[in-house]
Amino acid sequence: MSKTTSKALGRAAIILAAGKSTRMKSAKSKVLHEVGGLPMLAWVTTLARSAGVEKIICVVGEANKDVRTAAEALGLEIAVQEPQLGTGHAVGCAQKHLSGFTGDVAVLYADTPLIRSETLARVFTALEQDCQVAVMGFETDRPAAYGRLIEQDGKLVKIVEAKDASPEELQVKLCNSGVMAASAADMFAAVSKLGNENANGEYYLTDIVEILRKTGKTAIAVHADEAEILGVNSRRDLAEAEQGFQAYMRVGFMDAGVTLRDPDSIYFSWDTQIEPEAEIGANVVFGPGCFVAGGAVIHPFCHLEGATIGKNTQIGPFARLRPGAHMGENSKAGNFVEIKKSVIGKGSKINHLSYIGDADIGAGVNVGAGTITCNYDGYNKHKTVIGDGAFIGTNSSLVAPLTIGAGAYLGSGGVITEDVADDALALGRAKQANKEGWAKRYRVAQEKRQEKRQEKRQEKLLEKHQEKQELTKEKS
Ligand code: UD1
Ligand code: CA
Repeated sequence: MSKTTSKALGRAAIILAAGKSTRMKSAKSKVLHEVGGLPMLAWVTTLARSAGVEKIICVVGEANKDVRTAAEALGLEIAVQEPQLGTGHAVGCAQKHLSGFTGDVAVLYADTPLIRSETLARVFTALEQDCQVAVMGFETDRPAAYGRLIEQDGKLVKIVEAKDASPEELQVKLCNSGVMAASAADMFAAVSKLGNENANGEYYLTDIVEILRKTGKTAIAVHADEAEILGVNSRRDLAEAEQGFQAYMRVGFMDAGVTLRDPDSIYFSWDTQIEPEAEIGANVVFGPGCFVAGGAVIHPFCHLEGATIGKNTQIGPFARLRPGAHMGENSKAGNFVEIKKSVIGKGSKINHLSYIGDADIGAGVNVGAGTITCNYDGYNKHKTVIGDGAFIGTNSSLVAPLTIGAGAYLGSGGVITEDVADDALALGRAKQANKEGWAKRYRVAQEKRQEKRQEKRQEKLLEKHQEKQELTKEKS
């Protein structure tokens, strides 16, 4: 097939996810566990789509109900493989979903989340330009149970599973990642010829290389980085994959011009976006959905999720920004400040110990220490609106729904339940009463009381002592 026609015919992917995740010791299917805040199945789906794949079939077992639901939500077609007779059998189960499809098909594993889009793109390109079967391989010093890619003169001759390999073949360090691509026609023709005479008694997808080569087709190995290939079978592997992902993100951000004060202590999500010239302190965690603009500083020990951080903004230390927190340019959220679903205008400051939820705060607002938006009445959430330039006194309780006008001034300690007009002063606290000499009188009275108590105690002790003495006298 020439390169131009195969491109025009399109690309499809088959994601294998029918395996049982016994080693994960999890009620949830393995491929739904997350790396960088995204389920592994979604990683692989994103990978396929990044390569311009228009049709994705996910192969699941009867038992993987949760995978099926997740795959459908991701827009994948479902093929059920029951029982699971091997990777080749799994691919065969997807065939009917691709009847009439004449393009190229890549097989991906749902438990291998770190493969990069450039690498998969190279597999498809190899197929279009150099061969009829392209297999993604990687060199490793720990080839262990991986299938070995046997090459000759730069071409791939066959793949041998470790269990079926000769001692010589076991020395080979080039291993099978599991990712493989061929035209749909070649793929399914070869799969239909698979046998299961091997150590596992399974239909191995890997055998299609030899089958196709025997019909005159060319196979090649596309080399990938070992770090991308890590397959997740256990919680230890999952942790390793997470570390691999984090390491990749850290390097990527630093290379792009983001300062990471202590890279190993900073955690990102799959979709974290940070502009150059931003600075991230130690021990900062980004949940999904965060954007940080240039010039912003995230001080140590902050947790952000679904937050947008504007230019030159200062966050933390010890701040928590929850989904829907939008920090405008030059704004500040200081220590022990929690912000949820709120817009904070340009230059506004919330420096200490506050909870701001469901609020719309204008520009240049000063929110004093200990200010709390009382946004929830036990049933519904209510909004607080604060106009530009308002001053919110320390320890204000803003009982929503509430509107504070622009330039308004709230005295400290107010429980503010009614709207405040522009430029007005609002005091929402009991009037202070001072009583001259009261403290001194109080102290004197208290001290006298204590003296009396002490005297009574002494009397009682004396009585007891005397009683005892009389008793001993009687006895003797
Ligand atoms: C497979 C490859 C091996 C490669 C390794 C990379 C084969 C025969 N071997 O071995 O060469 O080095 O992956 O990790 O392909 N699955 C199904 N249905 C089945 C069997 C498996 O959907 O009947 C799915 C699993 O859920 C998993 C993937 O296919 O996502 C791989 O299966 P697994 O049994 O882990 O293959 P390996 O023995 O690791
Ligand atoms: Ca495996």
